[in-house]
Amino acid sequence: MTEEQKKKIAELKKEKDAVILAHYYVDGEIQAIADYVGDSYYLAEIATKLSESTIIFCGVSFMGESAKILNPEKKVVMADQYADCPMAHMVDLDNIKKVREQYPDVAVVCYVNSTAEIKTASDVCVTSSNALKIVKKLDNQDIYFIPDENLGRYIAKQLPQKHFIFNDGFCHVHKSIHQEELQKAKEAHPEALVLAHPECTEEILELADFIGSTSQIIDYATASTHSAFLICTEMGIFYELMQKNPDKKFYSVGHRQFCPNMKRIKPEGVIQALETLTPEVVLDEEIRKKEPICL
Ligand code: 13P
Ligand code: SF4
Repeated sequence: MTEEQKKKIAELKKEKDAVILAHYYVDGEIQAIADYVGDSYYLAEIATKLSESTIIFCGVSFMGESAKILNPEKKVVMADQYADCPMAHMVDLDNIKKVREQYPDVAVVCYVNSTAEIKTASDVCVTSSNALKIVKKLDNQDIYFIPDENLGRYIAKQLPQKHFIFNDGFCHVHKSIHQEELQKAKEAHPEALVLAHPECTEEILELADFIGSTSQIIDYATASTHSAFLICTEMGIFYELMQKNPDKKFYSVGHRQFCPNMKRIKPEGVIQALETLTPEVVLDEEIRKKEPICL
């Protein structure tokens, strides 16, 4: 990002009473100019505590929707109109209906990576950092976990007393991290700990020394006395890992740890969003009121 672009962003933020939120998967240059950077949980939570009237969101659409659901009176503007998470669309309303018919006491637990419409048809909405805590607290015996099968199975393994029904949604970025590649990376860096996001497949999670959301991975690496880590999640996280730990070594596992949707966010898009205050996140009022987001 040029110095001129940085200056323009700072001026426009003041002029428009705007604040910039960014996810750890966007490019480092965008994280560097954001006011708040975090995982899905943090970004939803911080959005409720801001005094500015406008939020410019550097992330994918479900994140902007979450900010809007929690702050209906604020203007939420996406830095890129087309940044969307494919997994958010990998479950449909018919499946939810069928499962509800088959299991009348089921709790439909929806991962935040989902559309507003799907959240409305669910009972509770979780993020990767609070899913275990929230599902554990539910009285329901039957849990239908949507849309991510890997996160669902990871939670289910820790709650054997409950009966889980899964949906076959997945994140293509995390699914592309293969066990053979991780084995090779471990051989190349035997001193490194493996840190993985729970959207990874079971075979990756089995080899992980720590499993957590993006923020939890950063906190773990920062607090650790180890000095080398193999990172099994999207590569945008390396920016904050290296900012916080300049003397530690972080290695990726393959060449595909890249979310093309998160990488759509560019300085030009941030400037345009600030200048035009579009594209704005607009939600149907009925959908907004029914949203079961857990913070
Ligand atoms: P967290 O930031 O909540 O760990 O989620 C990762 C992710 O895939 C967001 O799209
Ligand atoms: Fe969706 Fe995966 Fe990209 Fe996250 S990393 S936004 S889950 S495709």
